[in-house]
Amino acid sequence: MANLTTNLAGIQSPNPFWLASAPPTNSGYQVQRAFEAGWGGAVWKTLGDPILNVSSRFAAVGFNGQRVAGFNNIELITDRPLEVNLKEIYETKKKFPNHAIIASLMVEPQQEKWHEIVKKVEDVGVDGLELNFGCPHGMAERGMGAASGQVPDLVEKQTYWAKEVAQTPVIVKLTPNITDITVTAEAAVRGGADAVSMINTINSLAGVDIHSWNTIPHVAGKGAHGGYCGPAVKPIALNMVAECARSPFINVPISGMGGVSNWQEAVEFMLMGAAGVQVCTAAMHHGFRIVEDMIQGLNYYLDERGIKKVSDIVGKAVSKYSDWGNLDLNYKVVARIDPDTCINCNKCHISCEDTSHQCIDMLKDPSGKSYLKVREEDCVGCNLCSIVCPVDGAISMVELPNEQPPMTWNERQAALQATAVQRLDV
Ligand SMILES: Cc1cc2nc3c(=O)[nH]c(=O)nc-3n(C[C@H](O)[C@H](O)[C@H](O)COP(=O)(O)O)c2cc1C
Ligand code: SF4
Ligand code: SF4
Repeated sequence: MANLTTNLAGIQSPNPFWLASAPPTNSGYQVQRAFEAGWGGAVWKTLGDPILNVSSRFAAVGFNGQRVAGFNNIELITDRPLEVNLKEIYETKKKFPNHAIIASLMVEPQQEKWHEIVKKVEDVGVDGLELNFGCPHGMAERGMGAASGQVPDLVEKQTYWAKEVAQTPVIVKLTPNITDITVTAEAAVRGGADAVSMINTINSLAGVDIHSWNTIPHVAGKGAHGGYCGPAVKPIALNMVAECARSPFINVPISGMGGVSNWQEAVEFMLMGAAGVQVCTAAMHHGFRIVEDMIQGLNYYLDERGIKKVSDIVGKAVSKYSDWGNLDLNYKVVARIDPDTCINCNKCHISCEDTSHQCIDMLKDPSGKSYLKVREEDCVGCNLCSIVCPVDGAISMVELPNEQPPMTWNERQAALQATAVQRLDV
């Protein structure tokens, strides 16, 4: 069995699977049950001024039979009194000294408010703090959460204020509702953050009821934008983690989240630079016990590869993520159809004919039987046909030998420029 213990900026946990700050971490009862189920850490539901919530507040976006492909909420931070949460954090930490308990915090952007709350939560023994600069609804309208998380100066200043008094590591949780997340991540680092976490939820409207014309969800017939999360946001979150991981200016650990539902997705986030992952929607959908599969799957994955510690995979795929200008223009793949596996459904032909490069021919063999064949000289290797094909193995994308030496756009431009300079020299 590999060693799954995780150290994120000095915060230790028995495994890299933490529950994200959200309904699953709303009380001591829940966090203790989660730890018993196997979760390595929990970021407590965000603490701050007591809040009023609305009813209803969640909506799911289903797709093709999957009930929760995406998830949307208009819930605010904790609506339980701070003293109650603090007492339960204290009791939970005493019962589970080796598990990570992180206090998620959100207050108005004022120095004394940050000092006050940081001291209060550290007094009850948390292992770290997560500053919530991400909540996109409700709190943002009062200048907190994403409203301050979208302003790099405010991220830097508030991180600095928290760090002025913090004795435990400070993680800054970033909003994805921004053009370039590395800008706010860098601001957090300038403010002294020990780690960054991402993503919080994405601005969204889950749907409109076409019969009542109410938004989904609605509160007495009125709606408001909410935060989107769950499987649908994973590619967005993974890109943001990758962008931060490859930035030379963001040299702090990353806690990754957004759509993680199983161990494979956790591995993807870790390979792309996350030291650990957080999970909310999948736990809300399936319950705490999903962590058993996550732990078992991760262990198998590591054991199969002879990897002794989970920390050894962190960031291993980051160097493979670059800019378009660094991709080899002479690399070529083409689609190849295996006539023995193909069921002649014709989906690939339609996709290529209507929306790609019209290079899948419908032919007949000598016995008159129809078959499909890709004209490889015209195929641009876009992958579309293999994506739409319903049969595994019927279409493979095959690498062709590189006739030209590798050449990226950046190298090409540099070569052209050098030739132009040479011409001028002549
Ligand atoms: C109902 C709900 C409430 C949430 N409340 C908080 C919160 O209080 N503080 C916070 O930092 N994030 C909150 N989040 C965001 C999650 O912590 C997490 O960043 C997001 O859901 C992405 O992870 P997921 O795709 O695994 O759900 C909430 C999410 C949901 C669905
Ligand atoms: S890879 Fe793209 S261009 Fe090539 S056959 Fe498939 S759909 Fe057509
Ligand atoms: S989509 Fe796949 S199964 Fe259908 S015709 Fe094309 S190769 Fe055959």
